[in-house]
Amino acid sequence: MGGEPLIDLRSDTLTLPTAGMRAAMASAVVGDDVYGEDPTVNALEARVAELLGHEAGLFCATGSLANLLGVWLLVQPGQELLCDVRAHVARAELGAHAALHGVTMRTWDSAYGVADAATIANLMAPDAGPYLVSTAAVALENTHNFGGGTVQPYEHLAEVSSLCHDAGLSLHLDGARLWNAHAATGVPLADYGRLFDTVNVCFSKGLGAPVGSMLVSTAANIARARVQRKRLGGGWRQAGVLAAAAGYALDHHLPRLANDHVAAAAFAAEVAAVMPAAVEVARVQTNIVVLDTGRGTAAAVVAAAADAGVKLSAVGARAVRAVTHQEVSVDEAIAAGRIVAEVLAG
Ligand SMILES: Cc1ncc(COP(=O)(O)O)c(C=O)c1O
Repeated sequence: MGGEPLIDLRSDTLTLPTAGMRAAMASAVVGDDVYGEDPTVNALEARVAELLGHEAGLFCATGSLANLLGVWLLVQPGQELLCDVRAHVARAELGAHAALHGVTMRTWDSAYGVADAATIANLMAPDAGPYLVSTAAVALENTHNFGGGTVQPYEHLAEVSSLCHDAGLSLHLDGARLWNAHAATGVPLADYGRLFDTVNVCFSKGLGAPVGSMLVSTAANIARARVQRKRLGGGWRQAGVLAAAAGYALDHHLPRLANDHVAAAAFAAEVAAVMPAAVEVARVQTNIVVLDTGRGTAAAVVAAAADAGVKLSAVGARAVRAVTHQEVSVDEAIAAGRIVAEVLAG
């Protein structure tokens, strides 16, 4: 015990570009993307739009930017977006939707972030008149990060999609980890994508690319978003170097995501063997495990685990998160689970 943290489970954004990915980046054919002349970016935008059942795509530097633009397309200043209380758009984008685009938010609370049509039906207020804020759109997250990597059941998504569209509301998907949902369920990416008006997917999480997310929607929406991206300072030039990494990740890393899910379940099983109240193993569906720290605060558990050789992150007063990813083997996840169990028990 003691010494350097050995196993880093803070986030799947810690993944490093592999040698094959670096080679793909080095040999990418590039051009000026602000002129629309980067062939590698153009090919990735078309590829991912098609994968998700949409007309067009816009390659963005971050998932936060793709979410910002996706919501901007759907919600006018002064209107509201409904989302889960633990949604990344509400908790972790530093108020950008309000600060930059005048979007207000109301949230619902649900166990593990699972979206429920009845809850949304009670909350939504399309055309609220002159006294109340009108709802313009709903945002869902799949998988749900702070909910514990939860996969939204497909029937729930379909129900929410019909509910919103019948009521004249739009629907945004924060699919930063939609790849993990697809790997866990086998539901085709396009079946997920078609339920939504705008979708963000990230290449820089479990897929292991260093940078990059894609917003997909209609061609008309993407043309508007391209202008707003530039307005926000997000126009970039030879971004094909990064698009090549993302394309490589789709070819080579998408198929290995299931391994991260095995590692997360193995980690959770080790913790539960000693501290069953900390985690319900059956709820671990993808690469994220949120642990209830019980008597100890999340900050104290994070500090003690780091001392013992495992890095975790605090995601609530008594909630810590472990995320498995390509830099962590199943054996390392098991070893980490044993260490964290001792910390929680201690
Ligand atoms: C669910 C979710 N959405 C969006 C993002 C934003 O991605 P980025 O860090 O690239 O801005 C993240 C980042 O971790 C995320 O977990």
